[in-house]
Amino acid sequence: MKIGVIGTGYVGLVTAVGLAELGHTVIGTDKIKAKIDKISLGITPIYEPGLDDLLRANLKKGTLSFDADQHRTIRESDVIFVCVGTPQQEDGSADMSQIEEVSRLIAENLNSYKVIVEKSTVPVKTSSWIKRIITLYKKTPNDFDIASNPEFLREGSAVSDFLHPDRIVIGVESQIARDLLTKIYEEFGDRLLVTDIATAELIKHASNSFLALKISYINLMSNICEKTGADVEQVAVGMGLDPRIGKQFLKAGIGYGGSCFPKDIRALVKIGEDLGVDMTLLKAADRVNDDRIKLFMDKVRKALWIFKEKKIAVLGLAFKPETDDIREAPSIRLIRELLKEGAWLRLYDPKAVDNMKELVPEQSPKVVYCNSPYQAAEEANVLLLLTEWEELVRLDLKKIKDAMANPIIIDGRNCYKPDEVRALGFEYDSIGRQ
Ligand code: UGA
Repeated sequence: MKIGVIGTGYVGLVTAVGLAELGHTVIGTDKIKAKIDKISLGITPIYEPGLDDLLRANLKKGTLSFDADQHRTIRESDVIFVCVGTPQQEDGSADMSQIEEVSRLIAENLNSYKVIVEKSTVPVKTSSWIKRIITLYKKTPNDFDIASNPEFLREGSAVSDFLHPDRIVIGVESQIARDLLTKIYEEFGDRLLVTDIATAELIKHASNSFLALKISYINLMSNICEKTGADVEQVAVGMGLDPRIGKQFLKAGIGYGGSCFPKDIRALVKIGEDLGVDMTLLKAADRVNDDRIKLFMDKVRKALWIFKEKKIAVLGLAFKPETDDIREAPSIRLIRELLKEGAWLRLYDPKAVDNMKELVPEQSPKVVYCNSPYQAAEEANVLLLLTEWEELVRLDLKKIKDAMANPIIIDGRNCYKPDEVRALGFEYDSIGRQ
């Protein structure tokens, strides 16, 4: 069986490489030829730990290849994973035009029976649209099946998530599709959950929105902690000890970002509202997240009073550690707010600087990108920590203090112990702690 993967973004590239690593013959394709040329040489366009090595190893084995000709890739594949983007539109709903485009492409090239697998996060019932489009546009009597196999990869640990999944969800409506997908994921047989397609589609949305809700919940608690003298880190430990709650995703901070949670929660709100379901609960979670930057700005204001021409070191630009991705990163909104008020920024991130430069170009002395956290701290009036990269958690704070004009740290991810930082002579504020 030959597997085709359409779309070589985060999801598609990891899926293609992961499926090849599981021993399958895989062809990846993308409409952007430059991307395919680069990937074919073993260069990943994104930073994802472990992906480069695995890509090269499987290209060398010959079981993984990439082809910019999408038509040929479809014709040569028995199973096609659709991994194209579904970006957010202004009203919060997902833009499905790339899925529609790929569906027509598949219809045009349906030269044999194929199983079309939705991997992109899509609104529930999308499969019926894909089916309708392929049926409308196909030129041969060949049959096909639709299936849903939502991905649960986290950026930064996507390769390991793919090779060691908690669960594989497969939504099918035919025995052939069920058998083919079960075979593809044979190695994870004990973790396979087979459902109907609508259920599989919804499991993905329900999971992401629940996790976002959990983060907003602990962030809300952190607001109460700040007003009452309680410690949110301890509250999270105490809650997490209850196995019904669990300790993961209870880390208070400046809010969730990335290409998934913000977009998915709004998409589910739109889906629910279109169906006449009251979505107040998820809307509130989204609003709590939205307010994080405002609350963080209040902390910076409390430290500086006036922002104009104050030097602010911003450490951590990616939406989370171990990625160069800045999509919906809290840093973006914060940087824009600070610049609006006339602050001078000294920015540092281990991997995301190039991406941020495209959005916020270097403009000395207002925007300066630095090569190290210590350089960013030079002459700074305050230091803001926005992403808990290991390198930033392990900073030599003495060196940081010596570099700064005023030793003030505002820690948006609770990376340090307040007592220890204050003992070094810093003024220190963090989230939900005294
Ligand atoms: C998320 C899900 O975790 C994956 O299961 C899913 O497959 C993926 O979305 C997707 O839909 O493609 P990801 O966005 O890569 O993965 O990153 P997460 O590790 O979930 O973090 C999301 C955001 O939440 C980050 O900004 C992170 O800093 C924040 N976060 C996470 C918190 O603020 N507190 C926490 O306790 C956990």
